[in-house]
Amino acid sequence: MSDLVDQVKSVLPSVRADLEDLVRIESVWADPDRRAEVHRSAEAVSKLLAQAGFHDIRTVSEGGAPAVIARRPAPAGAPTVLLYAHHDVQPEGDPSQWASPPFTPTERDGRLYGRGTADDKAGIATHLAAIRAFGDDLPVGVTVFVEGEEESGSPTLSALLAAHRDLLAADVIVIADSDNWSTTTPSLTVSLRGLADCVVEVATLDHGLHSGMWGGVVPDALSALVRLLASLHDDDGNVAVVGLHQGTAADVDYPADHIRKETGILDGVTEIGSGSVTDRLWAKPAITVIGIDTTPIAKASNTLIPSARAKVSMRVAPGGDARAHLAALTRHLEEHAPWGARVTVTAGDVGEPYAIAANGPVYDAARTAFRQAWGVDPIDTGVGGSIPFIAEFANAFPDAKILVTGVEDPATQAHSVDESLDLGVLERAATSEALLLAALGALDR
Ligand code: BES
Ligand code: MN
Ligand code: MN
Repeated sequence: MSDLVDQVKSVLPSVRADLEDLVRIESVWADPDRRAEVHRSAEAVSKLLAQAGFHDIRTVSEGGAPAVIARRPAPAGAPTVLLYAHHDVQPEGDPSQWASPPFTPTERDGRLYGRGTADDKAGIATHLAAIRAFGDDLPVGVTVFVEGEEESGSPTLSALLAAHRDLLAADVIVIADSDNWSTTTPSLTVSLRGLADCVVEVATLDHGLHSGMWGGVVPDALSALVRLLASLHDDDGNVAVVGLHQGTAADVDYPADHIRKETGILDGVTEIGSGSVTDRLWAKPAITVIGIDTTPIAKASNTLIPSARAKVSMRVAPGGDARAHLAALTRHLEEHAPWGARVTVTAGDVGEPYAIAANGPVYDAARTAFRQAWGVDPIDTGVGGSIPFIAEFANAFPDAKILVTGVEDPATQAHSVDESLDLGVLERAATSEALLLAALGALDR
């Protein structure tokens, strides 16, 4: 074991350099102008895997973003482990809000800053480190699957899975795309929420009208939209849509002061919703308005706005059905517009939630590996975020054991400005993964 730990340590500088090169590629699949960058990052990932001893490597796509599938065969009698990560990243937002340029990896105080340093190019780095630590002798068969459109809701994942099912089949699936309890305590993620979103358009007129001539009699669409959106929560901030699923979270003591510390919620702003923090984050639905199209203030004139749209995003608690939840949200929006305003709902992405029964030899091996690498036991946690890949692969390979690990920590700020990776966490995550592969190779089957 200590040899392997040392091996990870010794490959880490090269892995970190490779991670930095990946971060320099602006692989934002959601931005139509940067799709070539996503192809470039798939190329880069595939090169790194070739250097790591993979001969069977292909870059595949089914009309969507390129994904990389690379395989090294299992030694006789050993299981095959699928290592998942994604090479696409979220848009960087306003670059002037970043302390260092978003696509220039920059170290400060033991953290590497840049878009994708954690979510999820660090997942790729973790897999590379674990693989490189073994050199030519992997204890298990390894299939690396690096997706390129996770941040866009993985729209062509089912098609990829259907087209390459045989290549992707595995006994154990390790998904390095989640969070840790802290930089010193790892998490084993045992549940994730699903996601369903839509665009709602509200119309009251077929053209704008003078707001002085008609205001007070004719409703404007933006006021109608705002009232409709307000109906999605009750006064305490609980979701008010009927028919949504809720459950109970893993039993974890979540210190109340963490919320203010980890989110930077402004002084005086209160939390919303009722119930424990973990129930609200992991086991209950949430609804957020994530964008609005309407007249910008710079173009505002005294005109009643004829139509306006908003994008509404819902998180679906584990145990719920994302499509049924989208239908419930759609029904609510269609039924709650004030003043007879016309409502059109256009369905967006859906991703199913997932909960894992994390017991048995594979999960025991993972917990042991975590304990050896981090020096403390991992905590079973839920997360509020979504990885649609998981339910999709769990359905396709019902016997595979799914382990959700990751390289994020509470200070990571994924999707926001100043995203960062704790370099110590990268080392511990890579060490745990290497130890896990060794343990899986030694498991009785
Ligand atoms: N890595 C995240 C998922 C995640 C979030 C894990 C928080 C643990 C904690 C992933 O890249 C992500 O952002 N997923 C999207 C999925 C969506 C686009 C379907 C999400 O949760 O919004
Ligand atoms: Mn991710
Ligand atoms: Mn993400």
